[in-house]
Amino acid sequence: MNDAPIRFPTESEIPSTMHIDKERLSMRWLVGGELRTWPGEGADVLSPVCVAKADGKLERVVVGRTPNLDSKAALEALEAAKRAWDGGRGDWPTMRVARRIGAMERFAEAMAKAREEMVRLLMWEIGKTRKDAETEFDRTLLYVRDTIEALKDLDRQSSRFVLEEGFLGQIRRSPLGVVMCMGPFNYPLNETFTTLIPALIMGNTVVCKLPKYGALLHAPLFEAMRDCFPPGAINVITGDGPTTVGPIMESGDVDVLAFIGTSKVGNTLKRQHPRPNRLRCITGLESKNPAIVLPDADLDVAVRECVSGALSFNGQRCTAIKLVFVHRSVEGAFVERLASAVDALKAGMPWEPGVTLTPLPEDNKPERLAALIADATARGARVVNRGGQRLGTFLRAAVVYPVTPEMALYAEEQFGPVVPVAAFDDEREIDQFMQKSAYGQQVALFGRDRKKMAFLVDALVNQVSRINLNSQCRRGPDTFPFTGRKDSGEGTLSVSDALRAFSIRAVVAAASNEDNKALVSDIVVGRMSSFLSTDFIF
Ligand code: G3H
Repeated sequence: MNDAPIRFPTESEIPSTMHIDKERLSMRWLVGGELRTWPGEGADVLSPVCVAKADGKLERVVVGRTPNLDSKAALEALEAAKRAWDGGRGDWPTMRVARRIGAMERFAEAMAKAREEMVRLLMWEIGKTRKDAETEFDRTLLYVRDTIEALKDLDRQSSRFVLEEGFLGQIRRSPLGVVMCMGPFNYPLNETFTTLIPALIMGNTVVCKLPKYGALLHAPLFEAMRDCFPPGAINVITGDGPTTVGPIMESGDVDVLAFIGTSKVGNTLKRQHPRPNRLRCITGLESKNPAIVLPDADLDVAVRECVSGALSFNGQRCTAIKLVFVHRSVEGAFVERLASAVDALKAGMPWEPGVTLTPLPEDNKPERLAALIADATARGARVVNRGGQRLGTFLRAAVVYPVTPEMALYAEEQFGPVVPVAAFDDEREIDQFMQKSAYGQQVALFGRDRKKMAFLVDALVNQVSRINLNSQCRRGPDTFPFTGRKDSGEGTLSVSDALRAFSIRAVVAAASNEDNKALVSDIVVGRMSSFLSTDFIF
């Protein structure tokens, strides 16, 4: 019997539905309205998917190549964004909102056409299943369209004058300047676009540094980015972070940092800015979201939601459940059911139907997860399912129990297919965990007792930013505020919050006398200003 935790395909077993045009996508970057091919060094894009060679060896598939830009090229992208901003006088920041919306609508149309190619690249580059890759694409396109509608709404509210205490004024949201935008590998499209799109549509100019894993999938959009927006409004770079983003931040010319990644990198980037008082930051960082299973929880619901919450996309979500606290009175039944539900998950290649568990993109990730499991087992925990086996880039999802505070898995974010379970007797243990935790994003609470649930909601709501009742932690719907406390993030994102995050209110005010009324009225009627305007966007 073959007891390998996963079966990697041979070259000939890769389906034709996974074909991509490597040459066309490789080594490209976008700067100042020019789509360029980088003549310098590049990096192979290694898929988490391996192929099994004739000699039995596993080899990661090379999906393409991305430019390893140097600091000079990165600074050229920054200069292009600065030119497009032009001290706030550039074409894009001064463009009427309706025209900016028109540009974004054209971009959304072009994006829709790239769906299949981008879905395939999501599968190849980060190992996302076809179903999840399609969801990521569709959700992102919807986000673009919803952002357009939200901006129309915001603009309608601003398209009127207010009369207050003898003053007349018009209040609008204005862009902030040059935005440095960086998304993560686990949602390389969605989480890049949930900052890039609102930043851009508000009139900012952007340098976007793509993540190491999940960079190539943006290449199908480069032409549309070049053609839909004025030169330099959006610039896209790739390469080593310290080499490219370091000098950009050190220049002091970045007005907004939109960063989704680790707090360690986030802190470095912020410190690199010479005038941090000028830097607005919108970040989404790590988390250690606990699930809390109370004695009267419906265990079917709790197990189902914990499995999906902990292991969707192999647990590589900032919102994943990363520690389960189960009440001592139900630990036996819960752990047994959780273990068999995890064992029932199908492992395979991203294109295989019904697959949940797939290979991992980050270098040496299975080894790092195995070290966390080893640390826990050395301190008295066990792997209680058929998990933990490794093969190449894959690690079979492991349920580790009982996890206690001295184990690394108790407090560290594992960001992978390991489900630590801790037993608790008293809710004060959960309070202690939350108090000590470096993170404060979400919790998932499973139970039925109204009084107990209400008590825990009130006890936890000031420690996290979202409490999920009898359901897993998640970001969506994207109209809900998404944020975190402590090391989990800064600023709030949602379709409408993001428009606010990437803009500042500006007011044009005047004493409400006849001369000023006539002045303002002439400007509006003569359509002489983009800001002073009562245009209503339908
Ligand atoms: O990685 C963090 C994502 O924002 C999670 O989003 O909860 O919709 O998977 P999700």
